[in-house]
Amino acid sequence: MKALILAGGKGTRLKPLTNTLSKQLIPVANKPILYYVLEQVVEAEIRDIGIIISPETGQGIKEAVGDGSRWNAQITYILQSEPLGLAHAVKTARDFLGDSSFLMFLGDNLIQGGVRSFVKEFTTNKVDALVLLKEVPDPRLFGVAELNEKGEITRIVEKPREPKTNLAVPGVYLFTRDVHQAIDRIKPSWRGELEITDTIQQLIDSGKKVRSHILTGWWLDTGKKDDLLEANRIVLDEFMKRDLRGEIDAASQVAGRVEVGKGTSIEKSTVRGPVSIGDNCHIRDSYIGPFTSIAAGTTIERSGVEHSVVLENCSIRNIERLSDCVIGRCAVVTRRGDGFKATTLFVGDDARVEL
Ligand code: DAU
Repeated sequence: MKALILAGGKGTRLKPLTNTLSKQLIPVANKPILYYVLEQVVEAEIRDIGIIISPETGQGIKEAVGDGSRWNAQITYILQSEPLGLAHAVKTARDFLGDSSFLMFLGDNLIQGGVRSFVKEFTTNKVDALVLLKEVPDPRLFGVAELNEKGEITRIVEKPREPKTNLAVPGVYLFTRDVHQAIDRIKPSWRGELEITDTIQQLIDSGKKVRSHILTGWWLDTGKKDDLLEANRIVLDEFMKRDLRGEIDAASQVAGRVEVGKGTSIEKSTVRGPVSIGDNCHIRDSYIGPFTSIAAGTTIERSGVEHSVVLENCSIRNIERLSDCVIGRCAVVTRRGDGFKATTLFVGDDARVEL
């Protein structure tokens, strides 16, 4: 069994962060989403892993993942020259996949409990394809499946305007080599992409057995800012442990499940978990509230930050309260101390400022 992780695409809904950072590398609880995916693939005992990358962000992915030895896995990078669809990505990976069955995992999805039992079900039941599904209140932005009483998928549609069920496709699939023939038979959709949903429908129409596995735990699609904050909240809530490695002075209070990285100093500040603070940060005269992740190298002075994700090497000074924020790498957010009332901005393309 091999695995194919999709880390190409454009990530337009997370601009401006994705102008310079691939969306699969955006951190949740201070760890790139792609690392959670890799951990879950390896936990399912699959170590021969192909990663689809794009020309724009592929180098960043290669630098972050390397040869995979830290997961005890072997990584093959596969360049997809344009984001022409999930089935196109599989087609691009044809040489890597050979005749092997494989787990396909979208690199920007987080799934509670991993995929081990899902992979086991596929190998035990010997079906032609297995598709993970999740009940959601509004499935219109996803692939949507209809099932028969045996749990087999009878119909699957990409982003239907009027969904027939509330069973969405989170983006974890298992295929045999039959999928390649099905891809050869489909045509690009209205959005110009070779869709994996059309491929699955093609498998069904040619008499193959396509079963479903319904996820009962959470599924976090990190496609937009609020989804990212929600993913950060849930992951901090579920996994954060108290682990204080930095220097915390006697005038500070650090309460609850808080992680503080090496080389970080906390002075005259209050931190209330769950919170993750990376290495080499400086927190002074500040309040860091629940559900906040602060990446390495960031300085926060005379400010309050809660329910937010702050990336590496930022500087936040003199801001009374920041809430529900996603702040990109090396950003400077500060209030001028000269009584000057005007708001002074120097923000990048696609930035969003809410005052
Ligand atoms: O999030 C789940 C949904 O993902 C499913 O319900 C849909 O059936 C499926 O088509 C897909 O829909 P999206 O339109 O949201 O996919 P997105 O463009 O966000 O791409 C998903 C991941 O795959 C993302 O990590 C980028 C990567 N990708 C995407 C394309 C189109 C590639 O690596 N290559 C591509 O060509």
